[in-house]
Amino acid sequence: MQAVAQARQAVRTEAVWDFLQMCTGVALVLFMWMHMILVASVNVDFGGGRVMNAIAYFFEATYMAQLGGPLIFLTMLAHFVLAARKLPFRVAEQKAMWVHTKRFNHLDTWLWIIQAVTAFIILVMGSIHMWTVLTNLPITAARSAARVQTGWWLLFYLVLLPCIELHVGIGAYRIGVKWGWIKRSHRQYFHGLENKLTLVFIAIGLITLITFYFIVKPAV
Ligand code: HEM
Repeated sequence: MQAVAQARQAVRTEAVWDFLQMCTGVALVLFMWMHMILVASVNVDFGGGRVMNAIAYFFEATYMAQLGGPLIFLTMLAHFVLAARKLPFRVAEQKAMWVHTKRFNHLDTWLWIIQAVTAFIILVMGSIHMWTVLTNLPITAARSAARVQTGWWLLFYLVLLPCIELHVGIGAYRIGVKWGWIKRSHRQYFHGLENKLTLVFIAIGLITLITFYFIVKPAV
């Protein structure tokens, strides 16, 4: 009897961790979609920067950037720690995961592998990015352009952009599957939708990077 109660408690605790993982994941997905649209505002006046500067000024004058930035970082960290319960850290675990994935050859298992790999990349690169932007306030189009046009930053964003968009798109789809909102018969449809959304956001990001690199006059 006691063993059954203990097993039930363990399952309940796991479900709570999974629920918190979903909540932090949804918050980050919504943040990321908003973030990409706000940064893309630099395209609205064809690299003039007035629209992006006005939005950035609003977020800083209301302290939303100064408070929201560290909050997003903490949410990202919490999300990683919660997900780390299932991530293969040891080489032996990684090898076993790889062998099983190849043997299963199931779409959702491959998607999980992409999630796990991009998670490590995003944790490191996302932290570097947030630190750089938030310790160099105010945000302006000219400062962002100066950064994107300097050193390795363009390459840095060209790696981070697909990683974050794949992670966000697959994450949203997996939440639907895991919690039973996307039924087996609808999986293909929602996977297609996720792919299209990911491509749209990568395209928006690439256009924005082109604008920062070629059009916006950098701050001196
Ligand atoms: C509150 C925190 C954040 C702020 C204030 C912020 C702000 C910015 C700004 C101003 C840019 C333009 C480029 C630059 O100035 O270097 C940018 C670009 C970018 N950010 Fe963030 N960011 C934040 C969080 C994140 C996070 C958590 C991620 C992903 C892990 C991320 C991913 C990116 C990517 C991929 C780009 C390239 C944009 C593009 O391709 O259009 N950012 N961000």
